[in-house]
Amino acid sequence: MKNYMIAVIPGDGIGKEVVEGALIPIRAVASKHGVNLTETSFDWSCETYLKSGRMMPEDGIERLRKFDAILLGAVGWPKTVPDNVSLHGLLLPIRKQFDLYANIRPHRLLPGISGPLVKTNFDILCIRENTEGEYSGAGGRAHVGTPQEVAVETSIFTRHAIERILRFGFEQARRRRGKLASTTKSNAQKFTMVLWDEITEELAAEYSDVEVTRYHIDALAARMITHPESLDVIVASNLFGDILTDIGAAIQGGLGFAASANINPRGGVPSMFEPVHGSAPDIAGSGTANPIATIWSGSMMLDHLGEHEAANDLMAAVSRVTINTSLLTPDCGGTARTLGLGQRIADQL
Ligand code: NAI
Ligand code: MG
Repeated sequence: MKNYMIAVIPGDGIGKEVVEGALIPIRAVASKHGVNLTETSFDWSCETYLKSGRMMPEDGIERLRKFDAILLGAVGWPKTVPDNVSLHGLLLPIRKQFDLYANIRPHRLLPGISGPLVKTNFDILCIRENTEGEYSGAGGRAHVGTPQEVAVETSIFTRHAIERILRFGFEQARRRRGKLASTTKSNAQKFTMVLWDEITEELAAEYSDVEVTRYHIDALAARMITHPESLDVIVASNLFGDILTDIGAAIQGGLGFAASANINPRGGVPSMFEPVHGSAPDIAGSGTANPIATIWSGSMMLDHLGEHEAANDLMAAVSRVTINTSLLTPDCGGTARTLGLGQRIADQL
């Protein structure tokens, strides 16, 4: 029997609820396929911060290093801990220390789910650069509080990081429909984005079997609404990918369905799997959060671990349930509760 060590970090708010609900079918599909998941749960969260002054212990990263994967719920409780403190204390250190440079988010409608678009037959994989670019954190402020106040924030783009994220995108395109959309704003941003375009062209010559189109970010944002079916793999910088994947979540029926993987394709460190949504303080504690984004992230985790059949089986079970939206949570118009929906999906396995 194959055994994987999974670090579970439920986090805050509905993070705890969706992880509990999602683990019901994740455990069920694992045992059906002869896979043993050894879970270790960590209570790292804003509550931990209020008690200890830290989102995770000083040796948190070292404690996570031995795991095969991390399943995370959501982090953030703005009423008691500022968002920049919680984000920089837990999520960002994990992404940076393990160099989880590819943030992958699938956008497609599950059977029965209707989004806001007329076109419904889209299947997009967004790949966001997760370590540098516009979110490098390089900058500063001077003359604070005076009329002369200045703020500077510099984007940092390296050939190394651009090339590896595009290469990852080309590899994914090869396994899918063979199309890659590279996103920049190289008409206006003439240094960083021109470098990105040049590397895209260099790699396009190497991956001649992949059809590459270069889009400007604004035009691609519109295309995701008007012609989403024309897109396959999208590769984007940290900021552009952040924005495009919110469009992706919207057109796939909302945050309850948006899943993600933070991957280091070289391996040797745990990759992290999490729903795109946050802790949803407005519905936290009501037991009605949609667990499907977390279940889908769990399927991506199994796939990454090499358990492709279990991963596909789990999504097939989800799809058999989404067909009847009255069986889903209130965000989809149904009356189900988080744990009940997780159990119903497990029952399909
Ligand atoms: P949010 O994603 O928590 O909620 C936005 C809206 O979507 C809310 O109305 C919420 O009820 C709804 N929603 C989200 N997930 C849902 C689900 N599974 N089922 C049903 N409805 C759902 O974003 P918000 O309110 O901006 O942020 C709340 C907290 O979460 C903040 O502290 C923020 O920093 C944090 N956050 C954490 C993220 C992470 O851990 N990766 C990502 C986004 C936000
Ligand atoms: Mg975002």
